[in-house]
Amino acid sequence: MPPSLIRYDYLRFTSGEQLRRARKFFELCNRRRTVRQFSSKPVSRDLLKTLIRTAGTAPSGANKQPWRFIIVTDAKLKRKIRIAAEKEEKENYEHRMSQEWLDDLAVIGTDWHKEFLEVAPALIAVFSVEYEKEGNRIRKNYYVKESVGLAVGLLVLAIHNAGLVSLTHTPSPMHFLQEILNRPSNERPFVLITVGYPAENVMVPNIQRKRFEQISLWL
Ligand SMILES: Cc1cc2nc3c(=O)[nH]c(=O)nc-3n(C[C@H](O)[C@H](O)[C@H](O)COP(=O)(O)O)c2cc1C
Repeated sequence: MPPSLIRYDYLRFTSGEQLRRARKFFELCNRRRTVRQFSSKPVSRDLLKTLIRTAGTAPSGANKQPWRFIIVTDAKLKRKIRIAAEKEEKENYEHRMSQEWLDDLAVIGTDWHKEFLEVAPALIAVFSVEYEKEGNRIRKNYYVKESVGLAVGLLVLAIHNAGLVSLTHTPSPMHFLQEILNRPSNERPFVLITVGYPAENVMVPNIQRKRFEQISLWL
């Protein structure tokens, strides 16, 4: 089938404006930090919906958009998720993680307690959609991890841009999310994003970002 094409009206700026905008956006992104203490102040449904719509603008392999965002604001469900996550994380911290991993985490100061999962107003459980079912037919999705990773990146920035904070959390293993949230077998838990406002006087680890020279190479 031939492609159906439409004219694309891309954003045009002078080179001065380009640099100004690029720097401004860098500054915005550079201020983002992962927060681990949340306030219980609610976030409106409209706002959450807009953040997820932003995530849904990400590019994806063959435009399959292989993501599902499950927004959890119900207190009982959040509690269930916290209990299940803490059970796995306790096991991780006490038995499963290597000493090297524990040492790397010590700098950040995390442990198995995940109070934020209950305190924060919203959890966004992101699932990757491994394939779609159309009746009896299975339709493949492509580059699922890469696509969902890009969508989560946009989500995290959209949250930050809206004056909210987030915590990217990967309790491992995560299949308890599948059960608690009753997701079908073609969906796989990808990451759990806690969203809300920070607790008062919130502190974050004093860690540094790598410099340009450390993350890139001109050829
Ligand atoms: C895939 C992924 C998984 C993460 N998992 C956890 C986690 O389970 N618990 C946690 O406290 N932080 C987690 N983080 C947050 C990182 O620790 C944090 O992004 C990193 O320390 C850099 O800090 P910053 O986000 O403030 O720049 C995760 C981040 C990513 C991208």
